[in-house]
Amino acid sequence: MSGWQNKPFVVEVKKGDSKAYCMCGLSKNPPFCDGSHQGTSHTPKVVSYDHDETVYVCGCRRSKNLPFCDGSHQS
Ligand code: FES
Repeated sequence: MSGWQNKPFVVEVKKGDSKAYCMCGLSKNPPFCDGSHQGTSHTPKVVSYDHDETVYVCGCRRSKNLPFCDGSHQS
């Protein structure tokens, strides 16, 4: 089971957090990088947060704005 899903992952981030989002689609712990990209041309997207926020991370891998949801899962 890959853990990817046809809807966004809702991630609650806190001020000071740094998240490494999977960009290769191979992670077994989506939407976060688990190192599975090793040997591919992909690298994780690392985002640091300076305030608390709710983040919608793409689960379907069809977003044009990876790693974030752009609503593509609805079409
Ligand atoms: S596991 Fe996908 S970018 Fe690291």
